[in-house]
Amino acid sequence: MKRREKFSVSILLAICTLLLGCLVSCQRTSIASEIALLPVPAEMEVHKGNFTLKDGMTIGYDMPELKPAADHLLSLLSVPTGYKFRTVEGKGDIRLALNQGEGVSGGYVLNITSEEVIVGGYGYGGVIAGISTLRQLLPPDMEAKTRVERETWELPCVSIMDKPRFEWRGLMLDVSRHFFSKEEVKELLDLMSLYKLNKFHWHLTDDQGWRIEIKKYPLLTQKGAWRRWNKHDRQCMKLAVSEDNQDFDIPVDKLYVMATDTVYGGFYTQDDIREIVSYAAVRGIDVIPEIDMPGHFLAAIGNYPGISCFEQADWGEQFSSPVCPGKEHALEFCKDVYKEVFELFPYEYVHIGGDEVEKNNWKKCPDCQRRMRENRLKDEKELHSWFIRHMEKFFNENGKQMIGWDEILEGGLSETATVMWWRTWQPNVVEETTLQGNNVICCPNAWFYLDYQQDEKSLKNIYEYAVLSEGMDVLQSTLVRGIQGNLWTERVPSYERLQYLVFPRLLAIAELAWSKPQRMNWDDFNSRMLSQLRRLNVLDVNYRIPDLEGFYHSNVFIDTGRVSVVCPDPSAMVRYTTDGTVPVSDSPEYVGMLSVARTTDFTFRTFRAGGEKEDIVRTRFIKQEYARATCPDTLAPGLKAVWHEYRGSSCREIPDAPVNGTYIIDDVFIPDGVRGNIGLVITGFMSVPKDDIYTFFLMSDDGSTLVMDDETVIDNDGAHSPREVVGQRALKAGYHPVEIRYFDYNGGLLELRVLDSAGNEVRGSRVYMH
Ligand code: ACM
Ligand code: ZN
Repeated sequence: MKRREKFSVSILLAICTLLLGCLVSCQRTSIASEIALLPVPAEMEVHKGNFTLKDGMTIGYDMPELKPAADHLLSLLSVPTGYKFRTVEGKGDIRLALNQGEGVSGGYVLNITSEEVIVGGYGYGGVIAGISTLRQLLPPDMEAKTRVERETWELPCVSIMDKPRFEWRGLMLDVSRHFFSKEEVKELLDLMSLYKLNKFHWHLTDDQGWRIEIKKYPLLTQKGAWRRWNKHDRQCMKLAVSEDNQDFDIPVDKLYVMATDTVYGGFYTQDDIREIVSYAAVRGIDVIPEIDMPGHFLAAIGNYPGISCFEQADWGEQFSSPVCPGKEHALEFCKDVYKEVFELFPYEYVHIGGDEVEKNNWKKCPDCQRRMRENRLKDEKELHSWFIRHMEKFFNENGKQMIGWDEILEGGLSETATVMWWRTWQPNVVEETTLQGNNVICCPNAWFYLDYQQDEKSLKNIYEYAVLSEGMDVLQSTLVRGIQGNLWTERVPSYERLQYLVFPRLLAIAELAWSKPQRMNWDDFNSRMLSQLRRLNVLDVNYRIPDLEGFYHSNVFIDTGRVSVVCPDPSAMVRYTTDGTVPVSDSPEYVGMLSVARTTDFTFRTFRAGGEKEDIVRTRFIKQEYARATCPDTLAPGLKAVWHEYRGSSCREIPDAPVNGTYIIDDVFIPDGVRGNIGLVITGFMSVPKDDIYTFFLMSDDGSTLVMDDETVIDNDGAHSPREVVGQRALKAGYHPVEIRYFDYNGGLLELRVLDSAGNEVRGSRVYMH
């Protein structure tokens, strides 16, 4: 899989603002039952009684460095209550203190009695974490941006001792592919802080746009921050129409009329950057800039000739042409840029990128080849590593530590760089990095790429992700610094779309990053998450409502099909069509079970209480007869898997590609030794034990298809990230021919599960023959 080309429209969408109606109308049962802290704290006791906020109260802080935290809390509390609070040095009704003594950085204790509130944090970040807990102990209305009429504002009496599991709890935002304004970034930082995330990784430059002012090289933003529509913009505009979703429209405030052209873009001045960095700091968030190099650098190369290998620098076979590490002038350029970046970000860590580097030009470039000879580098991977180490030395001389994507392991990792693991198909990155004694941050794309399509499993998959593997020793686990969600924005033109992709997945990431595993429980998380959505409603966050339930991508029935759709939000409304059109506000409303007598295509769409439309969900109900079994005459155990050297993106084309090898396998998977350009055609027979409707779960990254008895059961084709498509087929007991096709370039994933109509896995009785 090549990440940049991944794309899957989130057609699977569901809705429901959950339990809203119910939760709102419930009488207060007990305070304890209303507490829905997320992330769940390490230890909490709930006592009788409340602390009531009153006009004129004071917020005290015991050290001058806590003044910004006190001001922050003051503004959080004053807006919705309309009360006048004051901050004071020393004791106050609400007291912020820096805890002395033992504790984990970022941890805090929060004691609320009817008399006072004390937040004691280990470090500034701990105080902020305590404030975010305090904030979540108040009703969701406290997030309102204007005064709310309410009789009292009460905090339950609690004692909480809490600390983070991981020190790195990150979110990455790509502002190159699409640009997000200073105000939008600040709003995102506010939301991060609410959920105790503390690292904002800012992907500031890439081929499609340069977003940070560099004084020495003004063209980087004068020209590099603006572009004519590119293919991503055009895709977004098409989606806005095909998905009837204005969140895919390119916002007009990102357009600029330049001479006779309308161009897209934007950038942050150095003052903007300073403003955002200090805004983040108040909220306990470090900002980690990434100026991606040596690849993903066209926005610079296109405007400053002489820093790439050849004058003609554009797209190579897979990625864009990189910087030329053979030219002194190019190295100086990179350092000059970073020199200004270092000044703007007062944190230890800076991210160099280092991913997806096209090395073909380096092979042909005399300067690169000379650099390799002089440094006895045996190949271009080592030249990449040389460049990264050269830059790392410069980082260190300037008091900075380097982070890079996991490609920096190839060709030799330095002793000090931190590796950010993103390529799920390189499963040994964590092991290799930690065995060398280096730090690693985990964001394997299959789980942590927030631009990937969401389905009913996305949240749970994140929540249950095992960050530390069982075989790790203590030292290795301490080198795993934490986790991060990443949002690449090729198809994310608007802040609304950004929110839709980030929430609620970020809540699962937040809890996985913060809470101790012994306190984590999926069902409990789910109910707290639903409760948090009420808070996000008040914050006006365009989150994605959890999935509609009750159907698969395709469903089979024999006589009459029953279409029973469940939406977790009773206040939301589900509308549908059966003619393939997108449901609109006067399409029929789904009010209860529907019966169908013939094959019918449904398109569902949930409308939130405020009328906002979620992504559409398509499903087919297919009338079928039980397919007759066949009697294959030559049977041998196993399936035949033929590996084709295939580089395209359609299962249909695979058989036309040259064959690399043939394997016999006993289940559906990528055979050992099959890697690189993979086109697999797996054939054989499958036996089923009884006449029944079987459900097939085909998971793949990239595309796959499943054909049985010459009928397509699942079409999971096309270049995409890990995605499961579920389909059904009515089968008579006995043997049925199967064919699974699959392709991927780079390494990926292929799995097939089969259930009978009672939900039993039929693996045990399943035999493949060829
Ligand atoms: C990446 O997704 N290329 C880090
Ligand atoms: Zn070169």
